[in-house]
Amino acid sequence: MHYSLDLNWDLFLNQVDLIHDDKPFFIPNFITSPEKLLSWDDVDNFFNFTEGPINIINTSTQHSENFDEIPYYYNKVLPNRNKEYQAIKNNSTFNGACYNNYNGYAKYLSHEIDKNLGVASDIQFLASLSSNTVSFHPHIDIDPIIVIQTYGKIEWTVYENKVTHLFPRGFINSVMLSKDFQYLGKSQTFSLTPGDLLYMPSRTPHQVKVNSTRLTLSIQCMPQMSNPKVDKSYYPIKSLIKNEIKN
Ligand SMILES: [Fe+2]
Repeated sequence: MHYSLDLNWDLFLNQVDLIHDDKPFFIPNFITSPEKLLSWDDVDNFFNFTEGPINIINTSTQHSENFDEIPYYYNKVLPNRNKEYQAIKNNSTFNGACYNNYNGYAKYLSHEIDKNLGVASDIQFLASLSSNTVSFHPHIDIDPIIVIQTYGKIEWTVYENKVTHLFPRGFINSVMLSKDFQYLGKSQTFSLTPGDLLYMPSRTPHQVKVNSTRLTLSIQCMPQMSNPKVDKSYYPIKSLIKNEIKN
């Protein structure tokens, strides 16, 4: 199986002057077949047939929770899917981390991002069952984020003022939660539908409004120097069978 996507990196790189004026930008229809990257079948498969890490967004605190707690062999700990499922049924948004390891197109996309932008990207998915679903409280992420919508609609609000890199992310986000967002400067709201891309610079405060059942990819772009190189090659094991020696 060959996985590839038609990606226009010139279009991406010509949106803003990233060297002199790093700011958010939006590209409608950047991905032509977004369902290849992430569909509800992918979410079901990830949840049921892998040990992929899931984080649940607690509906009251709007912080993420993790239920990796089932002891297994070799000191391994597996996710408690039953607890996760109950929380999802109760309208929590949830995310699946390291998603580039579970979908061939997502792996290709992550590899392309690394190659064209010089980062070490990691893709997670965000899933919400309905417009009543609670998502994250307003917060920052340390690294730049590329967002790609693959199903349904969201509204993404980005604030102008950036946050220092001197304090830990957890501390910044807990202080930010108690402050009025008017101190964060002008805001811009982007409406995303399937195939749309949003780029957000590092340490940019943002919040998301879920408008419908939705699936979104959130791609964290970490510096290559501070992260171990993750192998994103596709290894076609099935095709090796052709070389089997017949007796
Ligand atoms: Fe975020």
